[in-house]
Amino acid sequence: MEVKAMPFTHNTSVVSRKQFDDHITLYNGYVTMTNLTDKTLATQPEYSTANASGGHFRGWKKTETYAINGIILHELYFQSLGSEAAEPQKKMQRLAERYFGGIDKWREDFTACATSARGWCILAYEQRTATCRNILLDTHDEGQIATAFPIIVLDMYEHAYFLDYGTDKATYINRFLSNLAWDVAEKRAGIIM
Ligand SMILES: [Fe+2]
Repeated sequence: MEVKAMPFTHNTSVVSRKQFDDHITLYNGYVTMTNLTDKTLATQPEYSTANASGGHFRGWKKTETYAINGIILHELYFQSLGSEAAEPQKKMQRLAERYFGGIDKWREDFTACATSARGWCILAYEQRTATCRNILLDTHDEGQIATAFPIIVLDMYEHAYFLDYGTDKATYINRFLSNLAWDVAEKRAGIIM
């Protein structure tokens, strides 16, 4: 089944229209690559090349994970971008209190995690340890925990902020947190709280 891109419009004050539109172009690229990967693996898997060192089959299987995570994480990120200063709602307040000792402490930990990330910073509920964690991914397919359910997703690749913020990633992170789409986070938190 062909994967289709979700529609997103620029309605955030975290990044400029130009930064946002360029990012959407990258996102669309992951959708195209996923469809190409699915088609290739369905019609030309070339199973005889299967090898842990490299080759056709391994390459496409690696691309499959990378591109699909590229779609999912970007959609969660775009949905997390808000447009005005808002306050966390009840379930997110409870979640932050239970797992981090309050919103301010969660924010401090999330900021440190984002500052340290080369790819993604994600507030997630991890099912095996039954704990909410801020987790760090260096690429779409490196660092994810298999049973982590994402609640808030921040893109820390340089392509996400460099046009607007240059090397000032601290201001980007702060602006993201100050304009967070708390209503979206609240709905996701509702699944576990
Ligand atoms: Fe990105």
